[in-house]
Amino acid sequence: QPTFRIAPSILSANFAKLGEEVQNVIAAGADIIHFDVMDNHYVPNLTIGPLVCEAIRPCTDALIDVHLMVKPVDAIIPMFAKAGANIITFHPEASEHVDRSLGLIKEHGCKAGLVFNPATPLSYLDYVMDKVDMILLMSVNPGFGGQKFIPATLDKLREARRRIDAYTAKTGKEIWLEIDGGVKVDNIAEIARAGADTFVAGSAIYNTPDYKATIDAMRAELAK
Ligand code: DX5
Ligand code: ZN
Repeated sequence: QPTFRIAPSILSANFAKLGEEVQNVIAAGADIIHFDVMDNHYVPNLTIGPLVCEAIRPCTDALIDVHLMVKPVDAIIPMFAKAGANIITFHPEASEHVDRSLGLIKEHGCKAGLVFNPATPLSYLDYVMDKVDMILLMSVNPGFGGQKFIPATLDKLREARRRIDAYTAKTGKEIWLEIDGGVKVDNIAEIARAGADTFVAGSAIYNTPDYKATIDAMRAELAK
C-alpha cells in the first residue's frame, strides 16, 4: 500500500481560533496543513497571506502546504518561505516563467509543485519534472471550499500517476500526487485508486463535529 497523507484545508476552519483548529486536526490524525492563498485577482476570493502562515507556524510541526491562487506568483514566494511554509505550489497559468518560479521556491528551501485546474493540461510538466516535488490536481475550479468533485479529474489522476511512476522509475525521485476539491469520506477510496496519495479536504473535515472520527473514516476507506 502506498503512503497516504491527509491534508485538511484550513479554509473551512474557524478563523477566530485558527491555532487550535490547526492543532486539533493534527491531533485527530491529519498529516499536513493545507493553506489556501487567494488574491481576488487570479481567483474571485480573498483569504490569508504570509502573516497568518507565520502565526500558525509555532502551533504545529506538521508540514504547511501553501497553495498559491495568486497572480503574479514570484514576489510572494520568499515571503511564504520565511513564514515557515514547507511546500509551495502555484498555478502555471499565473506565472510568466514557470521554470523560474519553481526554481525560486526550491532556492528558498521549500518543496515545489504545480497546480492544475480542471481544464489545464498536464503538458506544463513536460520539461520541469526535475523541479517538481508535488503535482496538485484541482477537482473543482479554485476559489471556494465546499464544491462538488468533478469526475473527469479521475482520468487526469490516472494520467498524472502514469507520468510520476515513469519519472520515478527513471530517476528514483519521489513526487507526491495531491488532489484538492470535493474530497469526502465517500469518494476518497475511488480517488486513491485513480492514483492520488495526498488528499486535501476542507469542508469534509472542518464541517464535521468530530475531526478524528472523520479522519479515521477516511483512513478506513483508504485501507480498503
Ligand atoms: C479551493 C481550495 C481548496 C478548498 C477545498 O479553491 O483550493 O483547498 O479549500 O475545500 P473542499 O474540501 O471543501 O472542497
Ligand atoms: Zn487548495
